[in-house]
Amino acid sequence: MIASVLNADLDRLSEVCAEMEQAGLDGIQWDVMDGRFVPNLTVGPATIAACREATALPFEAHLMIEEPERSIDQYAAAGCEYIIVHVEACRHLHRVLDAIRSLDVRVGIALNPATPLEAIAHVTDLVDVLLVMTVNPGFGGQSYIESMESKIRAARDLISHWPHEANLEVDGGISPSTIAGAATAGADWFVIGSALFKHEGGMKGAVDHMRAEVDRSSSAPAQK
Ligand code: DX5
Repeated sequence: MIASVLNADLDRLSEVCAEMEQAGLDGIQWDVMDGRFVPNLTVGPATIAACREATALPFEAHLMIEEPERSIDQYAAAGCEYIIVHVEACRHLHRVLDAIRSLDVRVGIALNPATPLEAIAHVTDLVDVLLVMTVNPGFGGQSYIESMESKIRAARDLISHWPHEANLEVDGGISPSTIAGAATAGADWFVIGSALFKHEGGMKGAVDHMRAEVDRSSSAPAQK
């Protein structure tokens, strides 16, 4: 379970990061948006660096920006252990992923809902995290796109043939009512934003509830 801070109180981000660790989350995702690749503008490396000492949780920089190659070194320097770029934003994708790897940072590649898995066919050896977007990127609080579950299943099958370990992450509209579907389809990492902040049990209640849903799905009979 990875927390997105996109919908957190921006005036207390360090405290929120510490609360996320106490709530039992496994990581924190920073949704970086440039107002060009997506119609929203959010945080940059300075904000991430300012929160680095607030938690021991690993940081992911989800770069929803054009030309991410121009700033990946800043996100590595800010303390991100993972850098995720969008295939749609990279004119030279192999070069960008190789550059991230050269920073000694784990490599993530994100696919928008309309982008086929074939887009990463020739760079899979460089991928540590494959992120299948389950919303159109840009905002928190959107509805989960259930039709992405067939893509998640295909991504799980694709990863199962890779010679190296990799994680299949989903992001967008993940909540107690949608996480089981994504887990059954094959996702093993879940980015959770707004659902963390509106659960009646608070952040820990949300995490415990969604973990229970994932456990329930994994004990469910295999989907026909
Ligand atoms: C969209 C963002 C969101 C965020 C999670 O660009 O990537 O998906 O991480 O937000 P929720 O969980 O509220 O959809």
